[in-house]
Amino acid sequence: MITVVGSINMDLVVRTSRFPKQGETALGDLYTTVPGGKGANQAVAAARLGSEVHMIGAVGTDAFGDELLAGLKIESVHIEAVKRMPGTSGIANILLSEGDNRIIVVPGANHGLKAEEMDTFESQLSRSSMVIMQLEMPIPVIQRTLEICHQHGVPTILNPAPATGFTDSFLPYATYLTPNETEAEEMFGEDWEKALEQYPNRLIVTIGQQGARYFDGSRHVIVEGFTTEAVDTTGAGDTFNGALGVALAEAMPFEEAVRFANAAASLSVEKFGAQGGMPKREEVMARLRGEAP
Ligand code: RIB
Ligand code: NA
Repeated sequence: MITVVGSINMDLVVRTSRFPKQGETALGDLYTTVPGGKGANQAVAAARLGSEVHMIGAVGTDAFGDELLAGLKIESVHIEAVKRMPGTSGIANILLSEGDNRIIVVPGANHGLKAEEMDTFESQLSRSSMVIMQLEMPIPVIQRTLEICHQHGVPTILNPAPATGFTDSFLPYATYLTPNETEAEEMFGEDWEKALEQYPNRLIVTIGQQGARYFDGSRHVIVEGFTTEAVDTTGAGDTFNGALGVALAEAMPFEEAVRFANAAASLSVEKFGAQGGMPKREEVMARLRGEAP
């Protein structure tokens, strides 16, 4: 059983042929709302790969809250530990353009969870084979979750995104850390590659289409990614984390687990939306075998 402690957002996606300059009005060609939030995305990624997934988080009492909960349910993610907070659900304003994205998150209900409340989930956390977190939640909630898991010997993945919320006090507790390059630089400075050696087999830096890298105690390992035609890279990192959680919870050898996560992430970018394109296990296995989809 995997538990995800994290954000649940409605993604308000606007697509335009080029990003507007400051003060400029640009015309878009698409507007749509799709479920997102790094926490929910990672939970859905893990559930599609066949894991039993429990989500701890919060949505608002607005219509988005209803929709987000219904979406998680359809994906077979357990939502008993998702709180409803008076007010609005978290949203992400996503601008898609020039093959890239720019995202503004307004946390809303996600920031309604309190650190003390995590103690009421102690039994849920302690029974998990992996607990996954990101940084769109209040920092004390993450800190407390890490401490509880550490105390029970439950492995954790902390995906430090966005890295602005990262504090060194997480380091002794998180089993695995999975920043991308930008986040790694924010956490460890320009020579973050040295940090890889400081945290062997624990710090895994994702490097986009090129895959992911880590230090195995004696050498630097680059686990190559799968090149593919990207339609929408939103949620690729989340798919990587959800899949990595599944693989490590199943005690897959480390390098193989990272490869599995790379394959899942590469499939996810082939479809629109953070959760669109998140693969089922058979699809990941086929990609690992080098078969065309
Ligand atoms: O990682 C992608 C996610 O970040 C989006 O779904 C959005 O909600 C933001 O949380
Ligand atoms: Na996608």
